[in-house]
Amino acid sequence: MEKLIFATNNQNKVEEIKSLIGDLFEVVSLKEAGIDIEIPEPHNTLEENATEKSRTIYQLTNQNCFSEDTGLEVAALNGEPGVKSARYAGEAVSFSNNLDKLLINLKGKTDRRAQFKTVISLILNGKEHQFTGICQGRVIDFERGTNGFGYDPVFVPDGSDKTFAEMTLEEKNFFSHRKKATAQLLAFLSLNGKNSSI
Ligand code: IMP
Repeated sequence: MEKLIFATNNQNKVEEIKSLIGDLFEVVSLKEAGIDIEIPEPHNTLEENATEKSRTIYQLTNQNCFSEDTGLEVAALNGEPGVKSARYAGEAVSFSNNLDKLLINLKGKTDRRAQFKTVISLILNGKEHQFTGICQGRVIDFERGTNGFGYDPVFVPDGSDKTFAEMTLEEKNFFSHRKKATAQLLAFLSLNGKNSSI
């Protein structure tokens, strides 16, 4: 089976991506690959951060790999937290600190529209390819559900009444930004296996 290193330390993301990719490829997390580094996210766009992460791991391992960067873009906050989603309330904060700040900043606002955007950066045979997935929905004003991670307890995707945190992983995958970007990654990999020169 073709092996792909997934450049993340976020175990939730590893589980989501593994559930999406199934047995088609062997997805190996950084931990499983024995790589213990904190990958920087210094840029102002998801695209640049995704590239930074995959290049960092490619330079270290010289192996096919991919990364992803995700942000929650909220209309009433001019697209924030966006690329800063992981650090919205500051460096080294918990998911709940970020979520609390989001709800405080949205207090009293009637426009609750938001979208998750995922950018995947694949490095296959030394060349980079990007894939994007967007899930539109809204941010509710209190937390519901205990599954998932990050902003899942307050995000309701269009077409559902449940928050992501009230869904099983399979239900979340039906709607999710990460699923949409991963579907493109899979389609690309199916057409361009690791031995191709693409
Ligand atoms: P990053 O892609 O690791 O920079 O993640 C950005 C932040 O967005 C994470 O720390 C989470 O708080 C949040 N996030 C990313 N993906 C999801 C998701 O699928 N659901 C809820 N929050 C997410």
